[in-house]
Amino acid sequence: MKTKRFTSQQTQEAARILAEGGLLGIPTETVYGLGANGLDADAVSRIFAAKGRPQDNPLILHIPTADWLERYCTDIPATAYALAGRFWPGPLTMILRRKPMVPDVVTAGLDTVGMRCPSHPVCRAILTAADLPVAAPSGNTSGRPSPTNMADMLEDMDGKIDGIVDGGPCSVGVESTIVDLTVQPPRLLRPGGVTLEELREVLGEVAVDEAVTRLLSAGEKPRAPGMKYRHYAPKAPVTVVQGEAAESARYIRRHIGDQDGVICFAEFTHLFEGHPVESIGPKADQAEQARRVFDALRAFDGTEVEQIWAQGPEPSGIGLAVSNRLNKAAGFHIVEV
Ligand code: TXA
Ligand code: MG
Repeated sequence: MKTKRFTSQQTQEAARILAEGGLLGIPTETVYGLGANGLDADAVSRIFAAKGRPQDNPLILHIPTADWLERYCTDIPATAYALAGRFWPGPLTMILRRKPMVPDVVTAGLDTVGMRCPSHPVCRAILTAADLPVAAPSGNTSGRPSPTNMADMLEDMDGKIDGIVDGGPCSVGVESTIVDLTVQPPRLLRPGGVTLEELREVLGEVAVDEAVTRLLSAGEKPRAPGMKYRHYAPKAPVTVVQGEAAESARYIRRHIGDQDGVICFAEFTHLFEGHPVESIGPKADQAEQARRVFDALRAFDGTEVEQIWAQGPEPSGIGLAVSNRLNKAAGFHIVEV
């Protein structure tokens, strides 16, 4: 099929694709999503086919306002509204009990559903025009880094989706924070644009799912099914070097092979002259690191590097999300220095 390009002004035309059961590339503040009408099981199945996504990995529903929660969810705790009041629209997904009207293909048969109300103005215009809950995973081929601009999404999806809307580069750059509100205490399943520290300000105690910080063994099932897959992975193997930045840079310099590439903070790029190097921004600028991390991982796919070395960021604030994405890209192959 030919993938139609829409400008950020053409949200009405783009929304028609959703109403007609098609697949639409949608900009959000986190990453680009691959959207379909979340109430149309056939349309949703096509998302899985286009991405090559395993059927047991549920999708999240995107809604224009928090008062849509009641349409699709039941037993909604007061904490959901407290979080919505503080962080919606924005990069937060809540796991809640679902109503039977949500198709099984969306939730992969789970009795819960992920709900998110995005803040990107173009995304909001599309949701409002479509007047539908939009099921949308990240717009990458399954296993590849998530796309943070239209060109990256087209690299994976050109010819496989009906249309895509250009909303510019994503302002957050990593996927939404996922918090499960069906358990006590609430549990962080995926770190993202809303930080763990911010969640705790509203919720008090928040548990951190083990899949966030370590590789699960074959028999273990994470609560967010998607967290079990080797993910965000460029084609070459990645090693994360965790520790004080000058130390990790020195370690990489000592161990780097001739054909290896580096992902590092802006201050250290000069140490790796002659190697393919991707800066993720200044070491103190965590928001910039979040915006750049997926592009840095993607950049190496066009090169012949044998191995990629990455400086591990401080795992606090949004740095926890950046660190999680790099660690996952590395299959949790982490060296502490
Ligand atoms: O920022 C985002 O969340 C982006 C944009 C497009 O909104 N979307 C996104 O979707 O990252 P996806 O499908 O790539 O990641 C959703 C994650 C997966 O790991 C999935 O397993 C988990 O959410 N998930 C979805 N529904 C769930 C549920 N009911 N219970 C637990 N985890 C769930
Ligand atoms: Mg994804």
